[in-house]
Amino acid sequence: MPANVISGKEVSAQIRAELKDEVAKLAAKGVQPGLAVILVGNDPASHSYVKGKEKASIELDFYSEIHRLDENVSEEEVLLLIKKLNADPKIHGILVQLPLPRHISEHKVILAIDPRKDVDGFHPQNVGNMYIGLPAFLPCTPHGVIQMLKRSGVEIAGKHAVVIGRSNIVGKPMAQLLLSENATVTICHSRTKDLPSFTRQADILIPAVGRAGTVRADMVKPGAVVIDVGVNRVDGKLVGDCAFEEVSEVASMITPVPGGVGPMTITMLMYNTVESAKRHSE
Ligand code: GUN
Repeated sequence: MPANVISGKEVSAQIRAELKDEVAKLAAKGVQPGLAVILVGNDPASHSYVKGKEKASIELDFYSEIHRLDENVSEEEVLLLIKKLNADPKIHGILVQLPLPRHISEHKVILAIDPRKDVDGFHPQNVGNMYIGLPAFLPCTPHGVIQMLKRSGVEIAGKHAVVIGRSNIVGKPMAQLLLSENATVTICHSRTKDLPSFTRQADILIPAVGRAGTVRADMVKPGAVVIDVGVNRVDGKLVGDCAFEEVSEVASMITPVPGGVGPMTITMLMYNTVESAKRHSE
C-alpha cells in the first residue's frame, strides 16, 4: 500500500489559522508582530524564499520590513542596520537570509542580532538554551518537522530516528529536537560508512543533505515515516533527497517536495515572530 502523504501545506494552514487568532489577541492589546528581513545580494533562491516570507507576513497581518541590500554592502553597514532593528520597538523578529556574500562574516552578523529577536534561532544563546532545554527560539525547519510528525499522529518517544545531514541549520538541531522528544537518535553524514545499514533501522528517517536520490526504497524499513528536508533542482523540477515514488511504496508516511517541509519553515518563522511579540507585550 502506498504511503500516506503528509502535506506541509495542510499542516501549515492549520498552524497559520492558530496564529491568526494569536495575532487578533495581540491586536486587541495594540501589538502588531513585526518582522524585519535582511537580504544581501542577488541569489535567486534567497530572493524567492524572502518573497515567501513577505507574503506570509502580509497574510498574517504582521508589520513587515524587507531590507534588500546590494551585494557589495559593507559588513559594517549590515551590522549597523541590525543594531537599529534591535532597538526598534516595532520589530519583534530579525532574520538575515543566508548565505551571505563572502566578505561578510555570518558569525558576526548572527552574534549581532538581539537573541530576544532572533526568530531563526541561530544565535548561540538560543542554540545553547535549546540544547539544555531552556526557553529558546527553535530553528524553523527542524521545529516544522517536529510539528508535522506530532500533528500527523506520529509517536516520537522511544522510536529510532535517523537524521542524514549535520548542518547547523537542519541536521544538528533536528537531532537535538528529536532527542528532546525522547527518540533514540542517530546522525549520519557524508563520512558515514554503509549509510543503508543505518537508514534501514530508522522508524523515522529524515534526509537533509541536498542531494537527489540519496534515499532509495531498499534503504527504508517497511512502515517507516520519512520526512524529506532536501530541496534539489533536477531538470528544472524541484525534488527532495528521496526517490519519492519508490520510497512511497515502502514507507507508511512520507512528505512530498515541493509542498512538504518547505511551507513549514516559513510557518514556524511566523510562529516564532508571534511568540516574540507576545513576550515583548507581557
Ligand atoms: N537560508 C536557508 N535556510 C535559511 C533559514 O532557515 N534562515 C535563514 N536566515 N537563511 C536561510
